[in-house]
Amino acid sequence: MSRGVGPCVLGLETSCDETSAAVLSPDMEVLGHVILSQDVHEVYGGVVPELAARAHLQKVDAVVDEALSQAGLGLADVDVLGVTAGPGLIGPLLVGVCWVKAAAYGLGKPWVPVHHMEAHLFAPSLEDPSAEPPFVALLVSGGHTLLLHAAAWGEYRLLGQTRDDAAGEAFDKVAKLLGLPYPGGPVIERLAATGDPARHALPRPMLARSQRPGDSDYYDFSFSGLKTAVVQLVRNLEAEGRMDDERAHVAAGFQAAAVDVLAAKTLRAVEETGCRRVLLGGGVSANGVLRAEVADRVGSDGSVFHSSVRLALDNGAMVARAARFRFDRGDVAAAWASASASLPFPGLARGAA
Ligand code: KG4
Ligand code: ZN
Repeated sequence: MSRGVGPCVLGLETSCDETSAAVLSPDMEVLGHVILSQDVHEVYGGVVPELAARAHLQKVDAVVDEALSQAGLGLADVDVLGVTAGPGLIGPLLVGVCWVKAAAYGLGKPWVPVHHMEAHLFAPSLEDPSAEPPFVALLVSGGHTLLLHAAAWGEYRLLGQTRDDAAGEAFDKVAKLLGLPYPGGPVIERLAATGDPARHALPRPMLARSQRPGDSDYYDFSFSGLKTAVVQLVRNLEAEGRMDDERAHVAAGFQAAAVDVLAAKTLRAVEETGCRRVLLGGGVSANGVLRAEVADRVGSDGSVFHSSVRLALDNGAMVARAARFRFDRGDVAAAWASASASLPFPGLARGAA
């Protein structure tokens, strides 16, 4: 590969229900990018791991081929292969990792295991090069809710995380309760736009004015109580035969409560760290109400970074970008490396602001 300085990277993402591959040029341009969403899970109202793994296996060759063809390159032109090695569903993860290991071995090229949530951190920088540390990051996906401070790429401090459901999981579960399809986030956002968020008051779990920095719940999240409150509300409305009329209002009330907690805790991190640069990442960061609320609270003397909706959801481009960062630091995989459903976040230290 002769263009630019540095390697050409192929990134592969198969940790959940998107099969995605991207080719990243040496100067960080996305040359080819394919994201294939599996619709089989809609039938079950959630991701079925075994079906996800099978679907990845069926599609991975075609997805990589198409990304390479968009880039006008062959596999042999790739210098480094990056793949999500965790966290995620082990079957789906293994499909991507085994594919990349085999290709790397066959080509005699290095491969880089990527942490899925670190990849989400890199997504906004693909579209806006100024989306780089230092920043406070709110990472909200179907499996994780993390609030951290990034002093530099690879240097992260965990401030808070969810104690039960992830933010995206809460959107998905509430959507199911409301009789809406999977994934719930985008459907709830659309429906909520037609509802009144104040009509049904819902709790803001783990958010109290009395909390102080240093309290264990100051930055942590909890969404299971909010979900239980929605269960109760839905039961009452159904018993009264009012569910159809109230569905949009319940969706709006739930979204307002979830966004309020996420934005409030992010702002606490901004105030405590003194860092007015905020990055939103992960699938839930596609939510326009969350983006607007955080931007509003950060104000005009700060910056809020997020990617386009396409790159906020799971994708291979963010994996390629994170792999490039790790490769530049020399973090290539050992021969025995594999996938891990609970891969630790690299460079993440624990501690309050
Ligand atoms: O990062 P992601 O694509 O996959 C995981 O790593 O889990 O996130 C998927 C999650 C799902 O729970 C989905 O419902 C949620 O992101 N999501 C949204 C929106 N779009 C996707 N949640 C709220 N509002 C949205 N617009
Ligand atoms: Zn994700």
